[in-house]
Amino acid sequence: MDAKKKAITVVFCNAVVLLLATVAAQACLPSDRAALLEFRSHLNEPYIGVFNSWKGQDCCHGWYGRAKRKGVMTGSISPAICKLTQLSGVTLSDWEGISGAIPACITNLPAMRHVDLVGNKISGVIPANIGNLAKLTVLNLADNQISGAIPASIARLTSLTHLDLRNNGLTGVIPVYIGRLKMLSRVLLSGNKLSGQIPESLTRIYRLADLELSMNRITGPIPPSFGRMSVLATLNLDGNLISGEIPGSLMTSSISNLNLSGNFISGKIPNAFGPRSYFTVLDLSNNRLEGVIPESITTASFIGHLDVSHNQLCGKIPAGSPFDHLDATSFGYNRCLCGTPLGDCGK
Ligand SMILES: *[C@@H]1O[C@H](CO)[C@@H](O)[C@H](O)[C@H]1NC(C)=O
Repeated sequence: MDAKKKAITVVFCNAVVLLLATVAAQACLPSDRAALLEFRSHLNEPYIGVFNSWKGQDCCHGWYGRAKRKGVMTGSISPAICKLTQLSGVTLSDWEGISGAIPACITNLPAMRHVDLVGNKISGVIPANIGNLAKLTVLNLADNQISGAIPASIARLTSLTHLDLRNNGLTGVIPVYIGRLKMLSRVLLSGNKLSGQIPESLTRIYRLADLELSMNRITGPIPPSFGRMSVLATLNLDGNLISGEIPGSLMTSSISNLNLSGNFISGKIPNAFGPRSYFTVLDLSNNRLEGVIPESITTASFIGHLDVSHNQLCGKIPAGSPFDHLDATSFGYNRCLCGTPLGDCGK
């Protein structure tokens, strides 16, 4: 058996359905066809007919569908999918109704590069041996009902570039060795019940551009080394139990979208802004910050959206270009802030 190209390309748009990405060989193996039909028999899509092209013998060609309209698909992911030994990708996204667990046997599919099951009702746990998928580049399980911990074996997915597990019921800690995944550019874990501290190892992923850990139960401090990462643009840590002070390094870093709102962050806003500070969003609201808004903030090259409301800040709001466009809501509910756009400082 030589490795000829067999294409099982099942691309479905909008709502996609399933993208069994390119495999190898010339014709459809009867065993693959049987596995696909079994897989299909566990799914139910009554309105659009996305599976209409799944007929004939050649399951390598034309077994795909496009859904221009939004549809709903129910059913579950059959373990029959694991019989497709060349399978390199599966996409069943935004069908809203696919339930059941992810078959653990998918971790036996060595060619798998892409798993995208976003926007369904998938429950159960992430298979413990997910780390076996050495070629996996994208793991998107966001917007489902997955519970349990993020398996420690995830630290073996060294090809992973995109990890999106947002809005599930994941518990436990962020695996400490996640920093071994040097290809990662997006780590999106918001909207779970993750606890423990932010692993410092994350700050050693030099490609990381987007880290979103919002709305979890994360405790401990913000590692100052985030401020030294070269391409980190978005750091969203809002809605956690984070304490300690804001590292000054974050003020002049590559980060342009910083949300620390809704934590237990204390101390002062670092007087560490400079011309390299460029923020489209700087949200420090709902914390325990005290002291003044530092004068150096006026030297920032841009601050699009600033929110320091609901803290314990005091003193005169600095005047300068980054502040001209801001209104009072950015500064409300503090101990004794004053000056434009709030009231006069008096005296
Ligand atoms: C920052 O996070 C808070 C809490 O999750 C959210 O309400 C707020 O809209 C976010 N700020 C911005 C500017 O997106």
